[in-house]
Amino acid sequence: MEKRRILVTSALPNANGSIHLGHLMEHIQTDIWVRFQRMRGHECIYVCADDTHGTATMLRAEELGTTPEDLIKEVNAEHQSDFRDFLISHDNYGSTHSDENQALSSLIYNRLNEAGQIATKSVDQLYDPEKEMFLADRFIVGSCPKCKSENQYGDNCEVCGATYDATDLIDPVSKISGATPVLKASKHFFFALSNFNEFLGDWTRSGTLQDQVANKLSEWLDAGLQDWDISRDAPYFGFEIPGEPGKYFYVWLDAPIGYMASFQRWCSENNVNFDDFWKKDSDCEVHHFIGKDIVNFHALFWPAMLDTAGFRTPTRVQAHGFVTVDGQKMSKSRGTFINARTYLDHLDPEYLRYYFAAKMSGSVDDLDINLEDFVQRVNSDVVGKVVNIASRCAGFINKQFDGQLSATADNPLLKAFADASDGIAEHYEHGDYGKALREVMALADKANQFIDEHKPWVMIKEEGKRDEVQQVCSDGINFFKGLVTFLKPVLPGLAEKSEAFLNVPTLSWSDAGQPLVNHQINKFKPLMTRIESEKVEAIVSNAKDEAPTDEATETEQAENQWIQFDDFAKIDLRVARIAAAVHVEGADKLLQLTLDLDGETRHVFAGIKAAYHPEDLVGKLTVMVANLAPRKMKFGVSEGMVLAAGPGGEDIYLLEPHDGAKPGMKVS
Ligand code: MSP
Ligand code: ZN
Repeated sequence: MEKRRILVTSALPNANGSIHLGHLMEHIQTDIWVRFQRMRGHECIYVCADDTHGTATMLRAEELGTTPEDLIKEVNAEHQSDFRDFLISHDNYGSTHSDENQALSSLIYNRLNEAGQIATKSVDQLYDPEKEMFLADRFIVGSCPKCKSENQYGDNCEVCGATYDATDLIDPVSKISGATPVLKASKHFFFALSNFNEFLGDWTRSGTLQDQVANKLSEWLDAGLQDWDISRDAPYFGFEIPGEPGKYFYVWLDAPIGYMASFQRWCSENNVNFDDFWKKDSDCEVHHFIGKDIVNFHALFWPAMLDTAGFRTPTRVQAHGFVTVDGQKMSKSRGTFINARTYLDHLDPEYLRYYFAAKMSGSVDDLDINLEDFVQRVNSDVVGKVVNIASRCAGFINKQFDGQLSATADNPLLKAFADASDGIAEHYEHGDYGKALREVMALADKANQFIDEHKPWVMIKEEGKRDEVQQVCSDGINFFKGLVTFLKPVLPGLAEKSEAFLNVPTLSWSDAGQPLVNHQINKFKPLMTRIESEKVEAIVSNAKDEAPTDEATETEQAENQWIQFDDFAKIDLRVARIAAAVHVEGADKLLQLTLDLDGETRHVFAGIKAAYHPEDLVGKLTVMVANLAPRKMKFGVSEGMVLAAGPGGEDIYLLEPHDGAKPGMKVS
């Protein structure tokens, strides 16, 4: 077999959040493929990085009172330890905020420019005059131009599903400062993607994509591709465009280049030639594993950029669907939006690796985690069928035969293992891990059947059956070795422990069909225990606790200690008249208040439901914080906060100024 040289990537996780089940599914899928290739003797390098740039990182850092650089450093360390503990075998885990990435991004941009594929155009965009920055769609809220629902984002309406331009929103508000955005023109840089329709028509049909994905993309190709806006104005956390002060690369321009940058770092640390992999007509392979939400970036923009800049295009872009839990989208309030660390606090990562693998077919369909099925499947397959063989046979070999396996291995089932090897490999190669595991489990069933039929635990008590007991248990151990070898891409931890128990060097693919004879094994230690369902319940309950609830955010704010006088002076307290008060559907503690500030109206959520009936509130005067930035809460945007006193619950008293106060008055 010819030795392949393969570079593999998983999509770069955003640096503004934790690693969760969705990321894990992707990295586990990639890691299995990578480990499989390595076991087959190929050179397979797996790189990833954090995707660090963009407005979100900038604002998040600001919110936390830190710098983007410090924030991304901290997140990077967290992501790396999460992945390491899930046994993801990245060769390098970098950051898009690296020297290599800046150099490569500039290089590629310059080459696109020299090729005449960069154009500039003036773009009108909503601008926050207070914060002095242009606003991406998700930083603008307003009423839907179609159905008039309030508190909708700048790109589409969650109520009626309409899509529109942010400029069409009624009464738009900046989520960042609360200011009314204004239209402002600015020069933007575009990559001339419209010139690539034909190139991409061919490329997307050249076997690089799954059919489902290619079909989806041809809808866009048929409609004609639009030029792609690749610049953003300062302030922006990213790389400045060479020779264009104040203009930055849009995060999605430098993100995929981050694959090359991370690989380049690895190359220089390991003395490998970067160009071997990235030059045009390279005979090395490049495989990207990604989610279905980002195929346009990887299968349209990316190959067009690479080809124009004089680099090779990917060999394969492998897309997957989304993780759902018990048939529904992952949800914070249901406790099914599970972070890597929350899972690891309770369970062995290999359980999840096995379950994901068992459900993967290499398609773009969503993958459902059914929590009951998870427990049942892992317990019955891995523990009940595979580990069980070793624990049943090892005792006899160790206690009765000093750990010595028999001298012969001609059980026909061993031949079946050898025969199954190519087919199982084929399934791994094509990403159909589910099929691979079903074949492995069918072999495990046969192995267990063999042991059940020969009953070494009965034979050992019979006269003259010692040799047979040794043979049956040796065969069993060899079946186990075969199973563990086939499972090693999925369960590398189990494989490592088994290698120690079997007293063999690291198992490679061809070991599956090669039995051990006259071989000394080591003492058996439990390799894996059953999942207890209570552990799963604990994960869900912890994930629920971690979910930010509106009330929790309020408590957190209450717990903040000192503020400086300047901070206090910033607070704009106003007298407000409660014009309306209504229950909020689904909220235990909240009322929605409509506040009149002498002409100006604000909608505010207040946790006073236990203390006041809505009808008793109407007409009352109270005090509000009028310049609190609007916050998107679970039930809508809250545009301020009312002041109340008391321990909470029923004992809470809205502050009511004297009669002389008038709505809109400043409180000082
Ligand atoms: N930063 C970009 C990728 C840049 S690649 C040059 C990004 N980041 S992400 O953190 O939002 O997502 C990273 C990967 O995780 C994507 O492939 C995405 O599809 C995948 N998933 C995120 N949530 C997911 C699920 N709930 N289920 C499965 N995968 C999902 O996109
Ligand atoms: Zn609408």
